[in-house]
Amino acid sequence: MKIITRIKTMQNLTQKLRREGQRIGFVPTMGYLHDGHGSLLKACRRQNDISVLSIFVNPVQFGPQEDLQSYPRDKKNDVLLAKKENVDIIFYPSEKVMYPGRYLTYIHVDEITATLCGASRPGHFRGVATVVGKLLNIIQPHRVYFGQKDAQQCVVIRQMVQDLNIPVRVCVLPTVREKDGLALSSRNAYLTEKERQEAPALYQTLKMAEAEIRRGEQDPRRLTQMMAQFLNSRCPQGNIEYVMCVNAETLEPVKIIQGTVLLALAVRLGKARLIDNVLLRV
Ligand code: PAF
Repeated sequence: MKIITRIKTMQNLTQKLRREGQRIGFVPTMGYLHDGHGSLLKACRRQNDISVLSIFVNPVQFGPQEDLQSYPRDKKNDVLLAKKENVDIIFYPSEKVMYPGRYLTYIHVDEITATLCGASRPGHFRGVATVVGKLLNIIQPHRVYFGQKDAQQCVVIRQMVQDLNIPVRVCVLPTVREKDGLALSSRNAYLTEKERQEAPALYQTLKMAEAEIRRGEQDPRRLTQMMAQFLNSRCPQGNIEYVMCVNAETLEPVKIIQGTVLLALAVRLGKARLIDNVLLRV
């Protein structure tokens, strides 16, 4: 396994691999890898000749009051996990390499970045789109992998890839969960023992809502009110940021629950900001 820190070295290598006819798969991450990343890396390994992982805590997607400084990092363990998943190349750039002195160009995806997480994290998706755009130019993969847990990120990246004609296939894999339903996330590391006990309430709320929909509930207002009540009762330490029922493609709130809808929620629980969602075909 190679660890590459320079952009030119990475670009030269993937261009050579492409010339040789190798199919390149790519998993972008901010490190502190867990089994959710593991599942993306497994698919990447299975579906491509070359498996590339990037580890870069992207400062541009963090707001000024957010957790950039405290974001968990563990290079040694990440390298071990990458080896276990038979990664061929880790791209591990520094901040200076990615954003040198005079850096002026950002990617803004309109409309779909203003809602859900984008509403409380202004600039977040501008940072995500910019870094993913840069990484796709550097690595030039045939396929790129993301997890459904970050549903809005997946929609934003698909839109960017389509609008900017980036020749890559975006693959989205199901959320990986703990046994009690909590979606795996690097930020779960922030939870205290007590908060961790309440955290499965996010998924329980989504499952309760899914059951209501299957029983015939079609009113998104009634449903989200019910979800908020249920969530507050099971997760009293949490502060709900949003509970929404949106169109899975446009991310606009639906007036009636039918077609493909995304039930999504975000909760602040102690130092952690947790998100989760389910995609339903009704
Ligand atoms: O999902 C993440 O870990 C990050 O948002 C990503 C896609 C690696 C961009 O920094």
